[in-house]
Amino acid sequence: MATAEDIAKLTAAALADTAAADSPAALEEVRVSHTGRRSQLAEILASIGSLSGEERGIIGKAANIARRDIEAALATRKTDLDARELTERLTRDRTDVTLPGDPYPAGAMHLLSQVRLEIEEIFLALGYEIADGPEVETEHYNFTALNTPEGHPARSSSDTFYVDGAPGVILRTQTSSVQVRVMEARTPPLYVISPGAVYRRDDVDATHSPMFHQLEGLAVDEGLSLAHLTGTLKHVASQLLGSTEYRIIPDFFPFTEPSIQLLVRWIDRTGKSSWMELLGAGMVDPNVFRFAGYDAERWTGFAFGMGLDRIAMVRHGVPDLRMLFDGDLRFLEQFS
Ligand code: DAH
Repeated sequence: MATAEDIAKLTAAALADTAAADSPAALEEVRVSHTGRRSQLAEILASIGSLSGEERGIIGKAANIARRDIEAALATRKTDLDARELTERLTRDRTDVTLPGDPYPAGAMHLLSQVRLEIEEIFLALGYEIADGPEVETEHYNFTALNTPEGHPARSSSDTFYVDGAPGVILRTQTSSVQVRVMEARTPPLYVISPGAVYRRDDVDATHSPMFHQLEGLAVDEGLSLAHLTGTLKHVASQLLGSTEYRIIPDFFPFTEPSIQLLVRWIDRTGKSSWMELLGAGMVDPNVFRFAGYDAERWTGFAFGMGLDRIAMVRHGVPDLRMLFDGDLRFLEQFS
């Protein structure tokens, strides 16, 4: 039989435990043990109905006051502990939004891609289209159809990469290989350029590499002359290099007749003026039209091919061709 004194002790213990609870979880344990269904207080409250009248008044009142006080203390303590926990979590997780972020390295276009795009833009503005061709090519498109017969020195295995076990298959040595492919696929008039990688077995010095880049051009139409060719090239040279002085000298290529080389007056970064070989070109040889199945009496054309790496090197003062392919960021970042 509980006395009022028991209830006072029990209350004091519950209040002390409540004050000592150091976390919401600990407080929950205190709540269960002091006010839960199996707590001493619950037992007392349950027994009130069976007490005699006088006791019922005293014990009932004391027990209900005890319950009210304990529950109030628990609620206050819970509010305090929850607030404390929240503050701690916010302090622990604090993000300083004013700190600089981790910088993510942004990529940039390679110098060669920049130069290629620039030249493409110049030709697109003239109404040219861009054609693509395979880098693994047949001797037919790279040589034979370009009027370069068997036994020609360019076809020798000391200059050209031949694919093992695949007779007649090579790595293209020039983007000129795209010429006949384009003509076979299309009907004139056509004005196309074709940039891309080419492969040759020469890497003897800093100005050569077994892989480099060219940009080919081909125009086929009625009545095209050398004047159209030189006019086009002069325009491109002035757009690309700002050069207006140019020189045309005779040259030889198996697939053009006549063939020329275009040199432009070029002031380099150090202020030195010199002639720069920009490209080879010429009027499409009628034999090439025949290989493409075109009527060589009706159609005329001109073609040209320039070295993209060379243009990038001269224009940007790059001393070694291999720097363009090494992937050294200290070099590449200078052009980003
Ligand atoms: N394919 C030649 C080379 O690699 C460059 C060239 C010269 C392309 C004359 C042409 C051309 O289209 O007409 O040296």
